[in-house]
Amino acid sequence: MVPDPRPTPVPTWLDRARMPSHVAVVMDGNGRWAEQRHLPRTAGHGAGEEALLDATYGALAAGVSTLTVYAFSTENWRRPVDEVRYLMNFNKSLLERRQHELDDEGVRITFSGRRDWRVPKQVLRRMDEASSLTDTNRAMTLNIAFNYGGRAEIVDAVARLVADGVAPGSVSEKTIRSRLYHPELPDPDLVIRTSGEFRISNFLLWEMAYSELVFTDVLWPDFRREHLYEAIHEYQRRERRFGGLDK
Ligand code: FPP
Repeated sequence: MVPDPRPTPVPTWLDRARMPSHVAVVMDGNGRWAEQRHLPRTAGHGAGEEALLDATYGALAAGVSTLTVYAFSTENWRRPVDEVRYLMNFNKSLLERRQHELDDEGVRITFSGRRDWRVPKQVLRRMDEASSLTDTNRAMTLNIAFNYGGRAEIVDAVARLVADGVAPGSVSEKTIRSRLYHPELPDPDLVIRTSGEFRISNFLLWEMAYSELVFTDVLWPDFRREHLYEAIHEYQRRERRFGGLDK
């Protein structure tokens, strides 16, 4: 079934005044979903596409300004060569299939990750095409973490800092932050991981310093906007202090 791209009413039990601005998701559990059905792992990734689109349109309807999804990590190159090949091709073809409908909905597509390391040229070309097609859209940003590692992002930022000749006395959170992949995006308010694993797996290490974390047992291919809304509800029950005593 193709997800309904029209914004659906957001549940009344969500506080519209306290929506997270940036939600980030570790889309985990595709392999287990496929194994439960005696299907190859890659079938699980394929089934994850519908979940991704439904979560994106659900976030859009809720007024979330940025949704970052972990689509391929710098460590995922260690997976079997066939799966890596599938994932490269899948991410490329997903953009081909979906970039126009996302564009029609006003979604800006951006990418976080290492560009100049291992990613095939044709995949990079498709990523650039999706970014430039949607560059002026402002309804929501879908930031795809692709060939992304939190440590690699910090290493790359520090390398740029050195290349820029920043003196040791001028190294600060601000000078590092401004060299991350997308310094213009706010830090995630809420990070969701599916499939019952309680790990960060090298995702947004710098940015999630004060994010609220929500873990769900739902396997990624089964994830729908309703699960996103439940996670946002959980987030809204939390008290954020950012190291201080009061909000
Ligand atoms: C981190 O867990 C999870 C990811 C990097 C997400 C991987 C997602 C996919 C491969 C599917 C992408 C799906 C779509 C629809 C684009 P990990 O398994 O890398 O880390 P772990 O070994 O610590 O569990």
